[in-house]
Amino acid sequence: MAQRADRVVIVRGVPKIVRFSGWERFGHLVHILSFLILALTGLFLYMPSLAAFTIGEAGELSRLIHRVAAVVFMVNPVIYLFFDTSRFTGSLKRIFSWTEEDTKWISSGGFKSYWTGRKKGLPPSEKFTPGQKINSMIQIIAFFVFAITGLVMWFGKEAVGLGLFQTMVVLHDLAMLFAVGFFLIHFFMGVINPVTKVGAFSIVDGLMNVEDAREEHGLWFDKEVKNKELIGG
Ligand code: HEM
Repeated sequence: MAQRADRVVIVRGVPKIVRFSGWERFGHLVHILSFLILALTGLFLYMPSLAAFTIGEAGELSRLIHRVAAVVFMVNPVIYLFFDTSRFTGSLKRIFSWTEEDTKWISSGGFKSYWTGRKKGLPPSEKFTPGQKINSMIQIIAFFVFAITGLVMWFGKEAVGLGLFQTMVVLHDLAMLFAVGFFLIHFFMGVINPVTKVGAFSIVDGLMNVEDAREEHGLWFDKEVKNKELIGG
């Protein structure tokens, strides 16, 4: 966890930029794993064709796994907030502050560049591109919808009326459709699409090539990356 973020480091003679701290990467990994377990066990309940997993011992087990993964899913950001407070709050601020550059990026064909690869004329991005910001906003909003509706379904069955309970189930399902949909797009962009997967591995090892950081996140590179004297300023 020791690598300092937003800095130039030399790795086996090659200069790189540390884009994510250890806690950010750990938090992302735990988030993905718990999310996938929740999505799978949730699907058992959601899809009639998988109903076999919801009855008898299999049903009890998948419900238990859903609840255990839900606790991990909800506690994970609290751990990240506790151990890396300034980066947690900093990232939230970046994600929810929409700038003129972001709007300009979209109107200049930013989304189109996802399949054409043409990035000429796009204004430089901050640490998160507008697309990454939108995905993060959706996932963060979905997180709160999951947590509130899930906890009501879990503990409030007796306390709330049938109408409210059913509303919680529908909102939980809607959050699932949005979150899984955007997760699939995020996965495609980060792992499969050759045009957009540039630098995506930085969420695993923390590191980004200098040229990629300059091209993809020019504003962040210019304003926030420290000790650039190592690469000649
Ligand atoms: C924030 C944490 C979460 C909590 C506390 C939570 C809790 C719950 C609970 C208590 C149920 C009812 C299970 C039962 O019938 O016994 C449920 C159902 C479900 N959950 Fe979650 N959940 C969470 C996150 C998620 C996530 C991240 C997903 C998907 C990505 C998800 C998808 C589902 C689905 C699809 C159902 C079935 C709803 C239905 O019956 O139509 N949940 N959840």
